[in-house]
Amino acid sequence: MSETVQRLEPLERRPLSDRTCLVTGSSRGIGREIAFELARCGADVAVNYRSSEERARQVTETIEANGETAVPVQADVADPEAVERMAAEVRDELGEIDVLVNNAGITVDRKFEEMTYEDWQTVIDVNLNGAFNCTKAFYEDIKTSEHGRLINISSVVGQQGNYGQANYATSKGGLFAFTRTLALELASTGSTANCVAPGFTETDMLEKVPERIQEKIREDIPLDRFADPEDVVGMVRFLASDHADYMTGQVIGINGGMEW
Ligand SMILES: NC(=O)c1ccc[n+]([C@@H]2O[C@H](COP(=O)([O-])OP(=O)(O)OC[C@H]3O[C@@H](n4cnc5c(N)ncnc54)[C@H](OP(=O)(O)O)[C@@H]3O)[C@@H](O)[C@H]2O)c1
Repeated sequence: MSETVQRLEPLERRPLSDRTCLVTGSSRGIGREIAFELARCGADVAVNYRSSEERARQVTETIEANGETAVPVQADVADPEAVERMAAEVRDELGEIDVLVNNAGITVDRKFEEMTYEDWQTVIDVNLNGAFNCTKAFYEDIKTSEHGRLINISSVVGQQGNYGQANYATSKGGLFAFTRTLALELASTGSTANCVAPGFTETDMLEKVPERIQEKIREDIPLDRFADPEDVVGMVRFLASDHADYMTGQVIGINGGMEW
């Protein structure tokens, strides 16, 4: 090779092979595809679930059958003590983690006039307090890791609001402020915090939305379709990788053009 021609290193085939990740709510939906993607990149993955033990086991068995390492870990992210127990279990099984993906989320939709305090609290407890509980339990791991990453899964609804989702939109909007603040507090350690905000995505969560409302939502999506969970995972893979070393405090929308 002549001196003026640079050697271009081929992309690494398993770029996360020295990383350990926990994905909350990865027994199904977007979280499951994130767990698969991180494992495909060589990471060891802890697969958190609340009640779908069998489905979480199917996720870890699939990962293990493909030659990677995964463990199922049960915890309701809304319960700080359960999350602490889960953190101890993950450290026992896989060691300290490098990447936390706060993905677990729920909806309890009702227009504000009919929304009860319980509807409000239940959603805030899982979507927002759950992210707090998990980040708290794994903060030292992320802070001290050479590749520390906090990745919060928010929603386009946190940016736009949505009819019947005051609780959900507030929880998802709160994640933006949480992410930016953690990005500032982690910055001196080199670890990063970013937020992915998917648009409406074909999972059990969207299934719960009545057909006629789904039709109305779709009319407002410039790319004229709902997202697949696979549309979201590439960004999480990128944020978890060394390619995103200099990226922190960002909200990345994956929403078919709904919001910018
Ligand atoms: N689907 C969408 O249109 C959409 C759009 C934007 C953002 N998002 C966000 O993306 C994330 C994943 O959503 P999804 O559509 O994949 O949802 P999903 O298909 O309903 O799956 C939810 C996952 O979260 C877990 N989970 C729920 N509550 C939990 C708790 N208290 N503790 C631990 N795990 C819990 C579930 O575990 P079990 O199986 O054990 O119940 C399941 O693995 C959520 O944060 C959601 O807000 C979704």
